[in-house]
Amino acid sequence: GTWFVVFWCTASASSVCLTVMTPSVQGPPGLQGVPGPAGARGLPGVQGPMGLKGLMGDKGDIGKPGEPGMNGTKDGVNGTNGSHMGIMGPPGPCSPAIQSAFSAAINQSFPAPNWPVAFPVIITNQQGHFNPIMGIYMAPVNGTYVFTYNLAVATKPLTVGLFVNFNPVVKNTEVYSRSSTSQTIVLNLKSFDRVWLQVRNDLTNGMYTDSDSSSTFSGYLLKCTCAHLCAHGRAGLTGRCVQVHSGRIAILRQREVIAPLTKKNLV
Ligand SMILES: *[C@@H]1O[C@H](CO)[C@@H](O)[C@H](O)[C@H]1NC(C)=O
Ligand SMILES: *[C@@H]1O[C@H](CO)[C@@H](O)[C@H](O)[C@H]1NC(C)=O
Ligand SMILES: *[C@@H]1O[C@H](CO)[C@@H](O)[C@H](O)[C@H]1NC(C)=O
Ligand SMILES: *[C@@H]1O[C@H](CO)[C@@H](O)[C@H](O)[C@H]1NC(C)=O
Ligand SMILES: *[C@@H]1O[C@H](CO)[C@@H](O)[C@H](O)[C@H]1NC(C)=O
Repeated sequence: GTWFVVFWCTASASSVCLTVMTPSVQGPPGLQGVPGPAGARGLPGVQGPMGLKGLMGDKGDIGKPGEPGMNGTKDGVNGTNGSHMGIMGPPGPCSPAIQSAFSAAINQSFPAPNWPVAFPVIITNQQGHFNPIMGIYMAPVNGTYVFTYNLAVATKPLTVGLFVNFNPVVKNTEVYSRSSTSQTIVLNLKSFDRVWLQVRNDLTNGMYTDSDSSSTFSGYLLKCTCAHLCAHGRAGLTGRCVQVHSGRIAILRQREVIAPLTKKNLV
């Protein structure tokens, strides 16, 4: 048994105490009590260790373009000149653009004096710059021209001159019958200059032709010196280039040629 202690408390004390010690027997266990109220929230726990690395995410969208950079400096180093000369280019438009050539013969001996000699038998006159009936060639452009004549002489002497605009430039005299005389000259002419042959008089007009003899007059443009034409060719006829005439017979009216011919101009 259990001893209970009973204390006696004295009167002098503030309370009365009595302790009695008596033996007792333990009772049966009590019924289970009702659950107590929930306890107060505990303190935050400490951070756990780092987890494992996750998988790679999807690719993000393209960002916006950045601002343009500053302008570079312009001053590059100039390159050196190439070392090889180019090949020569094709001829300019002048040469094919303007052409002029004629060759013609007489068909009657002893032409009239004081008058351009007609050369009615045309051998070449593609551009029509030579008038065979008048016997006059008209320069189509400023340029350098070549003229030749090869004349049979028979029966009478021949004195003949080549005229440019009423001025004799070269002359030939041949006194032997059954012979010939010739001349080749290079002339600088300007557009519309006229060139022809002329005999001196009735005693010296022995220019001859028969079935075995030809007397011919020929000429051609060697080089055009009209800068404007050379630059643009015949297709671009503007300004001064209209001076290229057609050379048609109509251009030369007979009166134009007759009137200025005077004795002092003759050979
Ligand atoms: C860069 O050059 C351009 C074209 O020449 C011009 O319009 C622009 O103003 C310049 N910018 C700067 C910053 O010089
Ligand atoms: C390059 O050549 C041009 C034209 O001839 C000239 O104006 C310029 O000064 C040169 N630049 C240099 C760096 O030589
Ligand atoms: C290149 O050629 C041009 C023209 O002939 C000349 O003016 C220039 O000085 C040359 N430049 C060089 C680097 O030789
Ligand atoms: C010379 O030729 C021209 C042109 O063909 C002709 O008109 C003329 O009658 C001819 N003259 C002679 C004498 O044959
Ligand atoms: C032809 O030459 C003459 C005289 O030199 C000049 O006055 C004229 O302008 C020239 N014509 C052309 C088309 O060059």
